[in-house]
Amino acid sequence: MKDIRTDFPILAANPKLVYLDSACTSLKPSKVIEAEMAYYRELGACGGRSSHRLGRKTNEKMDEARRTVASFVGGESEGLVWTKNTTEALNLIANAFDFSKKKKVVTTIMEHHAVLLPFMKLRDGGKITLEIVPCDAQGEVSMDAWEGAVDEETALVVTNSSTNTTGRKAELRRIASLAHDNGALICVDGAQGVPHHKTDMKKDGYDFLCFSGHKMLGPTGIGVMIARKEHLKNLKEFMVGGGTVSTVTCGEAKYMNDHTRFEAGIQDYAGMTGLSAACQYLKGLGMDEVERHEKALADAMLKELRNAGATVYGPESIEKSAIYSFNLRNAKAHDVALMLDKMDIAVRSGFFCAQPAMEAMGAHDGAVRVSGYVYNTLDDMKKFGEALAKVKALY
Ligand SMILES: Cc1ncc(COP(=O)(O)O)c(C=O)c1O
Repeated sequence: MKDIRTDFPILAANPKLVYLDSACTSLKPSKVIEAEMAYYRELGACGGRSSHRLGRKTNEKMDEARRTVASFVGGESEGLVWTKNTTEALNLIANAFDFSKKKKVVTTIMEHHAVLLPFMKLRDGGKITLEIVPCDAQGEVSMDAWEGAVDEETALVVTNSSTNTTGRKAELRRIASLAHDNGALICVDGAQGVPHHKTDMKKDGYDFLCFSGHKMLGPTGIGVMIARKEHLKNLKEFMVGGGTVSTVTCGEAKYMNDHTRFEAGIQDYAGMTGLSAACQYLKGLGMDEVERHEKALADAMLKELRNAGATVYGPESIEKSAIYSFNLRNAKAHDVALMLDKMDIAVRSGFFCAQPAMEAMGAHDGAVRVSGYVYNTLDDMKKFGEALAKVKALY
């Protein structure tokens, strides 16, 4: 991939910075920042409400963003609901899904807390039963384990498309078929998949897809839940308020039938246009090229980690994004992250909001996580390796 560092104002202003924390949030290119600013500079009005010209123009921008974002993941724009982030999108599914006929939800121990907590809360309130499929010591969830858990009692299967701890890509087509063969629906947490892999929710057969703008070069504060549009009518209201209703009396509210039923209150119009610009930017790079680039980054990262004698969590050589979690000898993960920061390498340390996953892989005190993206280069990986060698020499 061509060097695109100059597209990113933070990298242009900090030429020494090696940003390896994109699994937490990605940096934003000028195109995205400009698109977001253009809303405030040129429109600044409400969408879906006001009939004056700025309001109408905001509607147009909103519809355009809806189409661009939906098409980026092979989804239907009529099924797209704007949310604040993946967490809100997953909470929407957990709380809006109809569990009146079947109550069983199946998910895995490798999920982010954004998946586990909303469903654990429903379980603890007696609203659902929850089966959490275990992984092996490498964080692998086998198809056998999935097959042992999903049955005809299952209402909903919830899985990541790639984990945020190991970057492992889930076998989504097989998991989706398993869910459907058992009469269940599948909700995919695409927070770590959509930014890094070509996603086609129609072809791969998922019913719901949730993701965040900020992990895919877009702004913070905007996320998406896309449903196959026939499922929207079966979801109950979640957050209600202005924009979600057709008529209201003091005795009764009649809710909208479409995606607007779930978009309560004034929306993040600037965020939508920013996310749309991010999708266009990624499309311009080509998602096949993004994957190829990340594979090269992942290989180089692993080489540096091996050279440093790091303990790497998760599978090393299968289909994955450029993410590795690791520990270095007896060094505390936070100390390693702070030392790397002193050498201009930005990484994350801790449990990455996936404590059960990290514990299952033996990282009982957390770990350090490196995650690369489109703006990283092989030279960044070399610098990471050199910095790691300096930290290692201290232990
Ligand atoms: C796999 C996964 N799911 C969900 C989330 C939650 O995303 P957000 O914080 O944008 O809601 C994250 C964030 O790190 C994640 O990595």
